[in-house]
Formats: sequence, structure tokens, C-alpha cells
Amino acid sequence: MSLQKSSPKGWTRKDLVGLKDLGEDEINAVFKRAAQFQKNFSASASKLKGELAALLFLEPSTRTRMSFEVALTRMGGHALIFSAQASSLEKGETLLDTVKNLEAMGVRFFVLRNRENGVIEELAKRSSASFINAGDGTNEHPTQALLDLFTLKEAKGKIAGLKVVIVGDILHSRVARSNIFALKKLGAKVALCGPEEFLSPDLSALADETSDDLESALNHADAVLCLRIQRERLESELHFTAQNYFKNFGLTEERLRKHASSNCVVLHPGPINREVEIDSQLADGPRSLILKQVSNGVFIRMAVLSLLRLKRSRN
Ligand code: CP
Repeated sequence: MSLQKSSPKGWTRKDLVGLKDLGEDEINAVFKRAAQFQKNFSASASKLKGELAALLFLEPSTRTRMSFEVALTRMGGHALIFSAQASSLEKGETLLDTVKNLEAMGVRFFVLRNRENGVIEELAKRSSASFINAGDGTNEHPTQALLDLFTLKEAKGKIAGLKVVIVGDILHSRVARSNIFALKKLGAKVALCGPEEFLSPDLSALADETSDDLESALNHADAVLCLRIQRERLESELHFTAQNYFKNFGLTEERLRKHASSNCVVLHPGPINREVEIDSQLADGPRSLILKQVSNGVFIRMAVLSLLRLKRSRN
């Protein structure tokens, strides 16, 4: 798999469907705008005045859906919450027809989470509205990776040259995939770690190291991105119990103190499963950036919405 490194300066896209094809300049354009909103919240006040955005979450979500809703509210836009179970999807209407009907009502932004890989990209091609991928199957979750890296850069002052270890269920993780794409574009060293059944050959090909031994993977780590086991995507029973998983791959303060760099920080996209992939002392302790990620998620989503709005206004 090859990754595009450069792109035209700034933002030129109608949609944000993934980070695989995004250039470093575009990632930095999002970071720059998010930092502006973080510094001066009122600067964002009417950036989306009068705009309608449909939030179509066809899989469960707390952080992503609510932070898009907060971002839209802060910017003077309107978030239209779509409930799949209460919609005509239940009567057999297609997702494309659903999008076309909402578009006919004046919706110009779609924030979509979907169980199948690639569907959001296809919808975006067939619509003049702007699409944001809020997670599609095991493919990508671009705004999550952008907020992860924005938070990491804020904590460390840089991304280039850092050793970032991604631990857990990499195979089923759209968060891991988007993070690996972006981390490599920004010059980080990426190490992947998990039980063999959770490792992904195509992502290992992009990483600098892959291991099923947590303690060696943590060696000289500057940051660890911890992932939960995506039980909803498993096709067969696991070969280990939650207790066994924690024993071999659970992140603890003691493990980090012994093996990682002294200032190693911990990220997790959430939801966290305490005492399965991470212990509570670490999740709630001084190394943890977990709630900072959530706060920054609002700024990143505001930045993405604002760049897409700017692009639309220039057409
Ligand atoms: N990180 C993340 O996508 O969380 P939610 O599933 O709660 O949106």
C-alpha cells in the first residue's frame, strides 16, 4: 500500500472520507484551524449560520455524534439527528435515496457512520453535499485520528520522530488505520502490537515494527494509543479471556514506567473497557490524554466543518 505525501496547499476537498489520500498540508490546515478555534472560541460563532447537517449514525456512538452536535451548535448550524430505527430505512428505502431526500430539504452536510467499508465514499461521489466519514466498518475514522494527532502534538510539541505504539485489536480498528496513515505522513515511527489474530498484514506493511510482545513494543515509546477489542466485528470466538488479554496486553502504569520513555503519554479513542485493555490508574492518571482528546474532538470537528463550508462557498 502506498501513501500520498503531498497535496495542493490548504484544503481543496468537498468531503472528508479518509486520511489515506490526504496530504500533510491538508492535515496541517485542519490542525491550524482547530488551534484557532481552541484559542478563540468566539471566532467560530457564526461560521455555519443557517447550515443544516444530518447526523446519520447507523452504528452506536457517544463521542463522535455528540461532539459533531456540539461543534455545529457552537458554529450556529443545525444538527439534524437521524434515528435509523425510526426512519424509512426500516421500510426498505436505500441510504442513497435517504441522502437524496434530505438533500432536497436543504441539507448540505452529512456526518455518517456505517457498518460497511467504502459506502460513505460512494455516497459522496453521488451527491453534491459534503460528507464526513464518522467511521465506516473497519476502514477509516478520519476525524478521530485527526483529534488524536492534534492532542499528541499539543502534548509533545511535534509528531515527527516520535515513536507511537498502537496496541490492541488493530485488525478491526478504523481508528488504527486512519492513525497509521496520518502518523506516517507526519513522520512518526509506528509500532503495532497485539495478539497475532489482531494484527493486520496490510497495516503491518506500513508500520516500522510489529510485535506480539507488549514489553518489547513499549521500548522507548513516546506515546501509546490503546484500542479496545471490537467484539461487534469478531467473526469467531477469541482464543483468550478478558483476564488473559489484560495480563498480556493490558496497559498499566507499571508497564509504562518499566519499559516506555519517562514522559510517555497514553491515548485511547474510547469507549474504554477498564481492566481489559487499560487499568484505571493509568486511564485516570497524569499520562492520560483521554479526556483531552474528547475536548479537542470538538475543535477538530469544528475545523473540518468550517473548511468544508469554505470550500463550498468558493464553488
Ligand atoms: N471514538 C469514538 O468513535 O467513540 P464513539 O463510538 O463513542 O463515537
